[in-house]
This record gives sequence, C-alpha cells and structure tokens, in this order.
Amino acid sequence: MMDFYQVLEKRRTIRDFSDREVTDEVLEKVLGAAFKAPTNDHLRQFELVVVRGQENIARLISPVLKNTKEIQETGLNAGASTMDKDEYAMFSDALPKQQRMLIQSNCLVLPFFRQKGYPLCKPADQSSLNYFASAWAAVENILLAATAEGCACAFRIPIGNESEYVKQAVGAPDEYEFTCFLAIGYAAENAHICKQKDIQVKDRIHKNNW
Ligand SMILES: Cc1cc2nc3c(=O)[nH]c(=O)nc-3n(C[C@H](O)[C@H](O)[C@H](O)COP(=O)(O)O)c2cc1C
Repeated sequence: MMDFYQVLEKRRTIRDFSDREVTDEVLEKVLGAAFKAPTNDHLRQFELVVVRGQENIARLISPVLKNTKEIQETGLNAGASTMDKDEYAMFSDALPKQQRMLIQSNCLVLPFFRQKGYPLCKPADQSSLNYFASAWAAVENILLAATAEGCACAFRIPIGNESEYVKQAVGAPDEYEFTCFLAIGYAAENAHICKQKDIQVKDRIHKNNW
C-alpha cells in the first residue's frame, strides 16, 4: 500500500486507458472517499451516477466532440505563441483526447452535488460557492483514493451545453448540479503523462507578508 505522500505523487491525470475495467467493489471503495471530504453544511449531499458501456457513455457525452473542436481550432492556435510551454503541451495532448478518454475507461462517473440558495453560476459572494467547493473537495478525494487503488483518472469540466445535457439525460433533480465527467480505469501501458510544472514550494510560502 502506498503511503499518503506516495499517493499524492502518483496521482496524475491519465488520458490513455487500458482495456482493464475497474470492478464494482473497487469503485465503491473509491467513490466512498467522496463522503470523507469536508463539506460546508455537514450534509455531504453528493450523488454519483456511474455509467458503463462505451455506447452509453458516448451518448451521454455527445456534445463534447463539437465543443472541444471549437476550442482546439480557436483557443489552442491562438495560445501557441502566448502560453507557457508546459501549459501548451498539456492542452495539445489533452484536447484531442477529451472524447476518447471518457469512453475508453468504460467507467464514467458523474458526481452531482446539491446546490441550495444561489444558482451556481450567479454567486452573490464567495460563500455562495460553498457547495461547489465542497463537491470539488469530494472529487479530489475520489482521485486520491483511485490512485491508492492503482487506478487512473481523467476528468473534463463541462462547457457550453454539456452540463444541462447530462442533467437531463440522467434525470438529475433540479436542485442538483454537475461537477465533471470523471473517467476511472487503468492506465494504458504507454499512457502519456504531461510534465508537471516544477514548483519550488519554499518560494510559494510567505512568512507574515507576501
Ligand atoms: C478545475 C480543473 C479543470 C480541469 N479541466 C480539465 C478538462 O476539462 N479536461 C482535461 O482533460 N483535464 C482537465 N483538468 C486536468 C488538468 O489538465 C490537470 O490536472 C493538470 O494538467 C495537471 O496535471 P496533473 O493532474 O497530472 O497533475 C482540469 C483540472 C482542474 C483542477
């Protein structure tokens, strides 16, 4: 078993999956980690829709290809000269894989969270985002638990109509919001792992003043 700091090191975004599928037993353990994350209101109102079967997944993510192509054609080209080079390398690898990575693992998890009060995209202040923040703490717990189990993950943040499309397609209740398309599987043998930016932690820690 990896220790916690090994898990932190090992957790990387993997966008190339093998044929091996995560079992229901492992998946339940990994998804259970979501309910160990801190939540703003103590209630942990997360619901996880698991979609298996490549055709089912393809149907659910059908807006992804078109939406991504648009970014690839406009954003990525425009960014080539201005982006950080590791950032550009990451987007160049990631964008063409958005649709495939979600289908390939054959296990797509759709984490939803209950959003009370302010509509998600119209927050009044920072605390209106508490449900969103809690949901993402839960997603990170899932990523770390999956890593500890030897699994690999990739996720996509919904853009454009993707959230609404998914909510409708799975019949999510109105007060629930969608976090991301989360693929959980096992890394392909030759899976690409993007270079992580080198950060000197000491330089980022400021004593008393910035
Ligand atoms: C808020 C957020 C949004 C992200 N959106 C996407 C996405 O839409 N598609 C994707 O392939 N990866 C996405 N990622 C993954 C990042 O590209 C990845 O975490 C980053 O490149 C660092 O690499 P690492 O996870 O291997 O450390 C996202 C990550 C975060 C935290």
